[in-house]
Amino acid sequence: MGGFGAEYDAGAVKHTVRFSVAFLNKAAGFYSNHHPVANDYFNNTSYGNRPDFNMLGIDSRGAAVGRGNLRNNIAYTGTLTSNMAGTSSAYNSWDLGVTLSDSQFQSVSTTGWDAPRRADGSLPTLPHLRLAATSTLIDKGVDVGLPYTGRAPDLGAFEQPGDTPPGQRHEAETAPAVCQGTIDTNWAGFSGSGFCNGDNATGAHAQFTANASTAGTATLGIRFANGAGGARAANLVVNGSTVAAVSFESTGAWSTWVTKTVTVPLTAGSNTIRVDPTTTAGLPNIDYLDVNA
Ligand code: GCU
Ligand code: CA
Repeated sequence: MGGFGAEYDAGAVKHTVRFSVAFLNKAAGFYSNHHPVANDYFNNTSYGNRPDFNMLGIDSRGAAVGRGNLRNNIAYTGTLTSNMAGTSSAYNSWDLGVTLSDSQFQSVSTTGWDAPRRADGSLPTLPHLRLAATSTLIDKGVDVGLPYTGRAPDLGAFEQPGDTPPGQRHEAETAPAVCQGTIDTNWAGFSGSGFCNGDNATGAHAQFTANASTAGTATLGIRFANGAGGARAANLVVNGSTVAAVSFESTGAWSTWVTKTVTVPLTAGSNTIRVDPTTTAGLPNIDYLDVNA
């Protein structure tokens, strides 16, 4: 990343290293190499290097200083970082207090990486150093203007495709979900073991409990069927506050299920999300709630 011969140059260009992997180097995996300006290091995975990230740069007096903007990176095993004083470092594995272990990854193998790159030039499709489906590093990053899926970027070089983590689908029939009505199975096409048939009454709600890793806007997907002729109206009540009004239109049949998408604010940690009918017709039948659908 350097190239200025350890001399300061105020006009030096900024480089970006992103979606890259370095492993098992005897020296730095990612190295600022006396660069005069802070480069961007976004979404890289450094495994078993010594150190994984060495941010040694140079200041205007020619003195050694940490230079680099680091976001969403993983440093795992080897020695993690050096020359960090002077850098801007946030939302990296070493900043977030996350516990790293092999089980965060599908594989930590370092063989097979010499396979051909994919047609678009990206790294070969290997399970190595990709996050496991249950990884707590999913959606732990911060938006740096690069593409991602889910509520936030993942840490490391590989974004999980369609990465709503398991556990983000909340079936209406499964505690801690609450159904003010009956759990029925008589209309086909539901997921899990049933759906919530709310009583036909104002306030006869379906309620879900969802965990959010960080505070922010979440996209909810509410799967429902409404075989009645008209729409059914409900408030979305998050942690006791009404945050949106939703109209569940007729789907034409009780066995025709659709998913309604709504964005709501969630707080970090546990949230209760209540679908609360505002007329005596009650709710449509509710199958599940997806968070960040
Ligand atoms: C019918 C249907 C139920 C539905 C109810 C309603 O009874 O079988 O599944 O919940 O209508 O109007 O709410
Ligand atoms: Ca009903």
